[in-house]
Amino acid sequence: MATVTTQPAQRRAPKTGRFSSSVVKKTVMAVSGIIMILYLIAHMIGNLHAFQGADEFNGYSHWLRTIGEPAVPEQTTLWIIRVVMLTAVVSHFWAAISLWRQARRARPVPYVTKKRVQQSFASRTVRWGGIILALFIVWHILDLTFGVVNPAGTGTTPYDRMIASFSNIPITLFYVVSMLILAWHIRHGIFAATQTLGQTNKKRERAVNGIAYLISGLIGIGFVIVPLSVAFGLID
Ligand code: HEM
Repeated sequence: MATVTTQPAQRRAPKTGRFSSSVVKKTVMAVSGIIMILYLIAHMIGNLHAFQGADEFNGYSHWLRTIGEPAVPEQTTLWIIRVVMLTAVVSHFWAAISLWRQARRARPVPYVTKKRVQQSFASRTVRWGGIILALFIVWHILDLTFGVVNPAGTGTTPYDRMIASFSNIPITLFYVVSMLILAWHIRHGIFAATQTLGQTNKKRERAVNGIAYLISGLIGIGFVIVPLSVAFGLID
């Protein structure tokens, strides 16, 4: 009978500083992810003003542009939030791409184990999800902030643009699917972030997983409820 020998995966010698640089990148991912989640929670709660009608919703949109007035000029706070968010998005992307390339360099031949297959499924979906979410953000700003791709067009109120978008089935579906991807992304992200930031206790993993499902579920539901309510005529 032939003897089966298993070849260890081909590895290059680790470069000096690789460990510390991957810790830095994972920390960048975790911290930028937390900043984005905080923004998303605030944004999701703000969107719920849609249930109070056009005046309240447009009033909320106006308030966003006047926070801090008259101490600071109009839109100052909004621009600070925009710059912080853009920095968070760019650094999250940079760290993700760079960690992925680092992992590929370190492990050109993948391990064939059940755990490995599960991990690669999670990381693949999260990776593609991240790209779809980046495209969603660009399209979403062109749609609801600027109105250039919105069915109601530019020069309309934020409420008009929202109603116009979610009265359109393909656009509503795009938002709903994107929010499902977002929820899945956040679930994975919270779990990964707690591991990076020191939550390594195996016993607590189940609790952390439960919390990750809860937070991502609440954010996902809080977001999709607005487009679905418009689509089903509960908001008009
Ligand atoms: C169903 C889900 C969502 C709805 C209904 C929604 C609604 C809106 C609306 C109405 C605006 C325009 C606000 C205004 O001009 O005053 C807006 C802007 C924006 N949204 Fe969303 N949003 C959703 C999901 C998201 C998600 C998931 C993200 C991020 C991943 C996001 C990021 C942004 C950003 C960055 C802006 C631009 C804010 C600015 O700088 O003026 N939104 N959203």
